[in-house]
Amino acid sequence: MIFEQVATGGCQSYLVGCDETCAAALIDPEITQIDRYLALANKHGMRIRFLIDTHTHADHFSATQELARRLEVPVIMHRQSRAPFVDMRVDDGEMVLVGDLRLRVLYTPGHTRDSMCLQLADRLLTGDTLLIGGTGRTDLPTGDASALYDSLFNRILKLDPKLLVYPAHDYRKQGHSTLERELASNPRLQKSDRTAFVEMMGNLNLNMPTHLTEALRTNMSGGKTVAQLLGEAASKVSFMSMEELKSRVASDEPGLLVLDVREREAYLEGHIPGAKLLPRGQLELRVNQELPDPTRRVLVYCDLGKVSTLAAATLREMGYARAVALDGGMVAWSEAGYPEKAGTEP
Ligand SMILES: [Fe+2]
Repeated sequence: MIFEQVATGGCQSYLVGCDETCAAALIDPEITQIDRYLALANKHGMRIRFLIDTHTHADHFSATQELARRLEVPVIMHRQSRAPFVDMRVDDGEMVLVGDLRLRVLYTPGHTRDSMCLQLADRLLTGDTLLIGGTGRTDLPTGDASALYDSLFNRILKLDPKLLVYPAHDYRKQGHSTLERELASNPRLQKSDRTAFVEMMGNLNLNMPTHLTEALRTNMSGGKTVAQLLGEAASKVSFMSMEELKSRVASDEPGLLVLDVREREAYLEGHIPGAKLLPRGQLELRVNQELPDPTRRVLVYCDLGKVSTLAAATLREMGYARAVALDGGMVAWSEAGYPEKAGTEP
């Protein structure tokens, strides 16, 4: 068996593979690590056959849907998951066969309604149900402290105490633990009375995860993250450095159209000399009138370089094959002391 643990910040993903058949499953993959997972599977000569989320993540972005699309393999989640892109919904007591390996599903709601643990030979992938020295929180959507109590005390903790514990989060870089060790030392497991446990979980006063809304939006719907949209746009356009643009503006390069896609007020406060204003929000509808020559080189900029990347990608999609985004934005341009002009449109 191959077993790889990949950490992304505190998030843990797992690649498990069968040596006999070269089939592998990827569990709780994170969106920024797609290339790493694929490289890892290649390194071991494994083919990823299944993508599994142990639950709907609220604090990071799952890569299951994107990988499913690329690899044409199914996404597996518990049947309580609402995500529309799940291909195989599983329930307690069932198994996923990964070559000769058997991943046994244990339904363990509490952190979320769709949480499950996966038992694989001598180890238990506990998702966010049981962490090393902690448990998943129960104060986010579909969390339920009483259900978590049952999942822990009446389910997981009754399994073989020698089982290795591999959680979906490990903030202290401990890697793994055992049920035995957690039973003895995990502070959250010292309250074995239900009422005391529920009360403790209700009084944790944890901060909300940074990307809660976006993580739930994308993980539950299969929609894209802002970073994904930006990444896709950046892969469709080329960029020009601020220095390069500065010298081209100074020499009044013929044929170069500098396009400011910010709002009018920002433009009036200060813009790159000679720039034309066409706010991003009006781009598609005014482009025919404002940019009649699609063969012209158009350098797009905004405040920070993100909106301009999206706008340049849109222009390329619309046939402006020479649309280029500024590597930087007006904020950095001003900070660098590069020339700018205030006032009305040229
Ligand atoms: Fe979680």
